[in-house]
Amino acid sequence: METLISSDVRLLANLIQEGKVVIFPTETVYGIGASTKSEKACLRVYEIKGRPKDNPLIAHFDSIDSIAAVCELGDMGRVLLERFSPGPLTLILPKKDKSLFPKELDTLAVRIPKSPVVREWIKLSGGPISAPSANLSGRPSLTKLTDVKRYFEGVVDGILLAEEPSFGIESTVVSLVSKTPVLLRPGSIESKELLTILPDLVVPDPYTRNELLSVPLSPGTKYKHYAPTARVILASTDEFIFSLNTMSESKTTAWIGFSFDGKEGEKKKQKIGKQPLSEFDHFCKVTSNEEYASKLYAFFESCDLSGIQTIFCELPKEGIGSEGLRNRLEKASSV
Ligand code: TXA
Ligand code: MG
Repeated sequence: METLISSDVRLLANLIQEGKVVIFPTETVYGIGASTKSEKACLRVYEIKGRPKDNPLIAHFDSIDSIAAVCELGDMGRVLLERFSPGPLTLILPKKDKSLFPKELDTLAVRIPKSPVVREWIKLSGGPISAPSANLSGRPSLTKLTDVKRYFEGVVDGILLAEEPSFGIESTVVSLVSKTPVLLRPGSIESKELLTILPDLVVPDPYTRNELLSVPLSPGTKYKHYAPTARVILASTDEFIFSLNTMSESKTTAWIGFSFDGKEGEKKKQKIGKQPLSEFDHFCKVTSNEEYASKLYAFFESCDLSGIQTIFCELPKEGIGSEGLRNRLEKASSV
């Protein structure tokens, strides 16, 4: 199959209208989309990803009004979208238009991507567009066009060229379906910010999250996610530095984190200077949680491509940007 790779939003909107599958970048990760009005097209997305059928898709809209036309937005939903959209927030809402995919559910996950180009494309396609992250089910989401092409060129009908993802982890998901709002998936919009608007938001404790969601509120939470083939080890700063000092010459180990500096780091740098490893850079240094999140999945991909077997990930810094990142690292490192 030929894949149309283009920045022409009209051409790619035509594909959606014809019931085809198109990959597009969002500010979080790439999505693999089809018209929410076409069950057949949405089911093809499941087939391409190998996604379990009971895990519903997020519908992407171009505006708050277009969401209000098909869902019970309510005052709280509107306030949240006005504050955080367009952006990395997904709301689960009661569905008004029962014909939308998935028909058997009376709720719909909705979100408005940040990029004006993507919103224009959704509008031209007659919207909304249902899309999970563009990756094979279970693997990390993709954040680079080169990775998207490697997996999906020749498999999907189109790829929309627009700004690459910058946040790097998937949207924050909040359910407004029951009386009390619940944080279903942490992300770049953090619970602290949400609590200023939703003081009764239920934020599952990361350490009891699995028990709390043993009857998962969001089907996606019960599946293994975000994990590369390589083993991921979540390390404290001390453990991270220790592993660097003792294993930095290993050809099958890689590191992502903050602490490459200092005495030990300097020694390591000298070693690297003397003895260049393969073309693959085993060390990914970041300076903030935000940068860490934006680079994480692409680093996982390049590690797998280079035959890396173990990836040491330093724990995020406490504070801003740690909530979603820590959640993804814990999932990736859980066996
Ligand atoms: O940033 C993102 O959210 C990306 C971009 C492409 O928008 N999308 C994404 O989609 O991460 P996906 O399918 O990988 O994750 C969607 C999550 C899943 O955990 C799914 O179970 C949950 O949202 N979800 C979707 N519809 C739902 C519903 N009606 N009720 C509860 N959870 C729902
Ligand atoms: Mg996903």
